[in-house]
Amino acid sequence: MTSTLPTVCDQVLVDEAAIDQRVAELGRQIAEDFEGQDLRLITVLKGGLFFLADLCRAIDIPLRVDFMAVSPYVVGSGGTVRLTKDLSDDIGGASVLLVEDVVDTGLTVNYVLSLLRAHHPARLEVCALLDKPARRIADVPIAYRGFSLADRFVIGYGLDLGGRYRNLPYVASLRDEVVLP
Ligand code: PRP
Repeated sequence: MTSTLPTVCDQVLVDEAAIDQRVAELGRQIAEDFEGQDLRLITVLKGGLFFLADLCRAIDIPLRVDFMAVSPYVVGSGGTVRLTKDLSDDIGGASVLLVEDVVDTGLTVNYVLSLLRAHHPARLEVCALLDKPARRIADVPIAYRGFSLADRFVIGYGLDLGGRYRNLPYVASLRDEVVLP
């Protein structure tokens, strides 16, 4: 699919072909690493949904998917994040791969990992399409990484600006003059 670059963007940072190729590579690696295990892909709504949907189809072993939702953390709150939707399935003893569209400060993944650990999975790893290490507050382990990005506000492929642009098939950076909601 082609898509006209929205006027709020200045450039495509990761195009559709690069995403497709990297997702396929990650899928092959994950299938190899989790072969024979009770694999669960879990993502945090809403942004991670898009990456998870493509990634799970690139993993050629049996797996299940599940979803969580958290409230965005409030800057200055000491990293407070609140669970707003819990898992549907029991993950005790399972091999869990937490799939995220982006790890930025790391506070969301850090919080979600602590929730998941409390369910005693046999294995717990993180797969992030985008890693933005410049703003990291919580040091989180990323076992599978799609791309490392500089500290730019990016949208597309699940990432939004005021709830929009998640459906762009690529990741694009926002123009500096765009006012964030
Ligand atoms: C985004 C993204 C991650 C989180 C990463 O979610 O999907 O969950 O931010 O940021 P962090 O590393 O600084 O915690 P957001 O809160 O924007 O919600 P959304 O997925 O519904 O867009």
